[in-house]
Amino acid sequence: MAQVVSDIIRQYVKELKGARAIKTGQVERAFSRVERHKLLEWFYLTDDKGEIEYQGWRATKRDVDAQNPDPDLLKIIYSNTSLLTKINPPSSTSQPSLVASMLELLELKRGMNLLEIGAGTGYNAALMQEIVGKKGHITTIDIQEDVVEQTRRLLKASGYGEIEVIAADGADGFPEKALYDRIIATVGCPDISFCWLEQLRGNGFMLIPLQHGIEGSDPLIRIWKERERLVGRVVGLSGFMSIQGELAIEQRVPFAIQATLRDKKPAAEYPLPDLLEEMQKFREKKQWVESCSFPFFLTIADERTFGSGLGLWDEEKGVIVVKRDKLVLYGDKSLYQDLKIFCEQWERLGKPKLSDWQLEFVPFDHAGEIPEGERTWVIERKFSREIVRLV
Ligand SMILES: C[S@@+](CC[C@H](N)C(=O)[O-])C[C@H]1O[C@@H](n2cnc3c(N)ncnc32)[C@H](O)[C@@H]1O
Repeated sequence: MAQVVSDIIRQYVKELKGARAIKTGQVERAFSRVERHKLLEWFYLTDDKGEIEYQGWRATKRDVDAQNPDPDLLKIIYSNTSLLTKINPPSSTSQPSLVASMLELLELKRGMNLLEIGAGTGYNAALMQEIVGKKGHITTIDIQEDVVEQTRRLLKASGYGEIEVIAADGADGFPEKALYDRIIATVGCPDISFCWLEQLRGNGFMLIPLQHGIEGSDPLIRIWKERERLVGRVVGLSGFMSIQGELAIEQRVPFAIQATLRDKKPAAEYPLPDLLEEMQKFREKKQWVESCSFPFFLTIADERTFGSGLGLWDEEKGVIVVKRDKLVLYGDKSLYQDLKIFCEQWERLGKPKLSDWQLEFVPFDHAGEIPEGERTWVIERKFSREIVRLV
């Protein structure tokens, strides 16, 4: 069995390297060493005939026997898929290519002290432990006590007992082990916590999937201190479940809306403006970073962003959204005009890339006057004001 597992892991690592998710030797070595199946006692698999119903789809629970794993399950576990391990409230082990990309973005070094928000199965924590080595330290927090109990036990049984798994709201960070070289969230955050800032080393940085309007499609933001300011840049893309606890907000666009639109008759259909057609083509070619440059602008310019950022959802006026090669309207015509104006504005700005935007986070009690300027936008979050600039 050991040979079967090591062959499957070798193939899995090769695929992640082929997808350019694993880039460096240290991340490759970590993925080769940590056994994902040993951190799972079960997971839920999408299955039309499954006995479990969750958010409009059906699933079957599959048990994992770590000592004698079913080879078919191993193939699923060592493929590039996120695996749901808990329903309501949810938990999962994230998509391996996303995990690898984030580890690369973290620029880890041996001996570093790290804090993770969203322990889940502990897979990412174990990978980070491999990279920082025995002299490094990992603290990982999860808000769900049963998740923590299981993860602590499975990490220990897999040889990662030194990882500190804490049951708490990650919004508070974990001051007992601060200062951290890196703080990483593996859960979608509608805001940042200023507790993290206090616990971050001066030359360290945070990597946060910061929700910008579009559910399940969160720009990855690298955030660091610059003199007395907290600044950031978009360094990638991700898709995570939303955070619970103090940072949580009510989700703006419920999944139900997307489901009900399937059977609804459109009020009008329009040909795609050139720009949206361009974005759709990037999507078809799986050029995700390029495909998100206009949607990211839309999330900054208008909080009504909908449907992976290629549409608008307005509580009173309805929805306009791109469906394949058409713009489909379920509501007031003015939504079409609004979307067209944003397309023109983005073109006038010179079609900025994700990495062109400069971000700054100011806590509300220090916020002062709202900055203005043709190339300055402001997003009011739960605890902070995010100032977005194009320079
Ligand atoms: C996508 S999973 C994390 C995946 C994990 N890093 C792994 O390697 O398996 C997100 C986790 O975040 C946890 N979570 C949600 N809100 C939280 C909060 N406020 N503080 C800490 N953890 C939270 C959830 O319980 C869930 O287990």
